[in-house]
Amino acid sequence: MRKQIVAGNWKMNNDVAQTESLLANLKNQTKTTNAEVMVAPTFVNLASAAKALEGSGIEAVAQNMHFAESGAYTGEISASMLKSVGVKTVILGHSERREYFNETDETLAKKVDAALANNLRIIFCFGEVLADRKSNNQEAVVESQISNALFHLNADAYKNIVLAYEPVWAIGTGETASPEQAQDMHAFIRKTLATKYGSDVANNTSVLYGGSCKPGNAKEIFSKPDVDGGLIGGAALNADDFFAIVNAF
Ligand code: 13P
Repeated sequence: MRKQIVAGNWKMNNDVAQTESLLANLKNQTKTTNAEVMVAPTFVNLASAAKALEGSGIEAVAQNMHFAESGAYTGEISASMLKSVGVKTVILGHSERREYFNETDETLAKKVDAALANNLRIIFCFGEVLADRKSNNQEAVVESQISNALFHLNADAYKNIVLAYEPVWAIGTGETASPEQAQDMHAFIRKTLATKYGSDVANNTSVLYGGSCKPGNAKEIFSKPDVDGGLIGGAALNADDFFAIVNAF
């Protein structure tokens, strides 16, 4: 079922004390929309955040995971470990993982399979870099990122997949895709899904926008028909700003 979702990706920010303080501030906020709300703290704070957020209506989600179930993968975390601390959703394929940690479509396909095998919901991120946008190649890039990592799945798998279009040139730069650029790409993403899986999957899959989404521009972006919410970086580190975005629907 297509849902409105606002997820905060905290990236490598917030130590224990800062996490506790931000969680307390988030729990004090009032939600005036139907949007599902999620936050993704760092791994060291994930278990405590999941506990602190129990019953709050805010879900603690993971920023990443490894595809193996266990073993000699120093520094990595498996799907079953996430589940063991109550996590139900994992972000995969963020452009920072792709750029700085060499995550490829191939490794992402394995991560997707491991997450789904463990009944985790996935927020699958993708998006073009500036050079692709400048050469008007963004649709081909996005189509290949989606098809290479996801198109081996059957239609049923999409019940547990949320897509997040994050143009790399808009992440942390203050430069947002215009609402029209976001809508055009989201419509293209839905068309790509429809071509492969049919209109049910295309219409029932939530597609989020990410990239310098702020209280001041969220309303206009979320008003577009194919935009189902946002994946928020910088503005998710402040509870008032984050909830202004949640309440922008
Ligand atoms: P910013 O909102 O800071 O641009 O980050 C977006 C993002 O990368 C969310 O995953």
